[in-house]
Amino acid sequence: METLAIFGGTPVREKPIYYGRQYIDEEDVAAVVETLTSDLITCGPKVTELEKKLCEVSGAKYAVVVSNGTAALHLAAMTAGFQEGDEVIVSSITFAASANCVRYCGATPVFADINPRTYNIDPEDIRRKITPRTKGIVAVDFTGQAVELDEIREICREHHLILIEDAAHSIGTKYKGQPVGSLADMTCFSFHPVKTVTGGEGGAIVTSDEAFYKRLVRLRTHGITRDPEQMVHPTDDPWYNEQVELGYNYRMTDFQAALLLSQLKKLPKFSARRKEIAARYDAIFREMPELTVQEEIPESDTTRHLYILRLNLERLNCDRRQFFDALYAENTCPQVHYLPVYWHSYYEKLGYPRGLCPNAEKFYMEVMSIPLYYSLTDEDVEDVVRAVKKVVAYYRK
Ligand SMILES: Cc1ncc(COP(=O)(O)O)c(C=O)c1O
Repeated sequence: METLAIFGGTPVREKPIYYGRQYIDEEDVAAVVETLTSDLITCGPKVTELEKKLCEVSGAKYAVVVSNGTAALHLAAMTAGFQEGDEVIVSSITFAASANCVRYCGATPVFADINPRTYNIDPEDIRRKITPRTKGIVAVDFTGQAVELDEIREICREHHLILIEDAAHSIGTKYKGQPVGSLADMTCFSFHPVKTVTGGEGGAIVTSDEAFYKRLVRLRTHGITRDPEQMVHPTDDPWYNEQVELGYNYRMTDFQAALLLSQLKKLPKFSARRKEIAARYDAIFREMPELTVQEEIPESDTTRHLYILRLNLERLNCDRRQFFDALYAENTCPQVHYLPVYWHSYYEKLGYPRGLCPNAEKFYMEVMSIPLYYSLTDEDVEDVVRAVKKVVAYYRK
């Protein structure tokens, strides 16, 4: 058996690779440079063009581009009308922002457990957690796989709830042939560098509801409007604008929008390569009894953002931390997604107890995300496979 690098053996790779990274080519750089030397570098034509493009990509009628995915979720939660006294059901395995947006509005996140096979929010647990105070759901397309939208939309219809889809991971994914963005009341994207397309930072909300759209546009710029129909004191003074509610500055610059427009041209090839890499990992790891492969629902045609390596710990002489450290030392560096949100000390102090979502907690103890991004070469992918096999062989019972 090969000695693991962590115990002095030779690492599988000389240079480290990490779980995610951006891909920026010369066309992207040229698009940014061109915009930087144009007349408007913020609130200009590229933002409008990007919004049009996002409507095409998502199938929604309207898009509002903002400074990051967290801002998108914040504005969506405000626009949904969540407020103090309301409960909003949120996925338990996600980045904190999916729940924080509910807190920003003074409402209470109620965490629903995950389906132990797909890792997405479990519709049955959503049903169990509905009370007369429930006003909405924030459902996260974790790893890029669409949530069970038919069932969740049905729950929303029955209980008059607003559905916010956190699609930070899932641009490019389709549910029953429909693009993510066309199926929830509001869908939020993130364009952070590890995501499938990036603007450095950036986010967007897409919706087909005109009233939501108008409010999102207003909240993005301080709650200020130029539309006389939305004003309390409309005038024909050409300079006049009016702040009608309290909003934020969540605008995106035009050079970020230019980068995103250039990146979105490459979405089909980004998506295809991510699928190809995930399929390669699946094919190998499905045959290994020490590992569990994420189950795909047939409705989701998934552009995979994260690849979850899940350990069957009863078959290994190590815990997740030892496996993680060993894989890291091989220079195929993993990360963990995610701590159950309510395990963060902020939420713990609010009174959320351990044991709330048993499937989520078990999941967290067994997983790590391995490298998955567009520019991984076939050799890189095989290095990751070799490193995983090497660590499994070492710790196999
Ligand atoms: C599931 C999820 N929601 C929301 C966000 C927040 O996006 P951003 O980092 O663009 O604010 C992220 C990003 O990491 C995420 O993974």
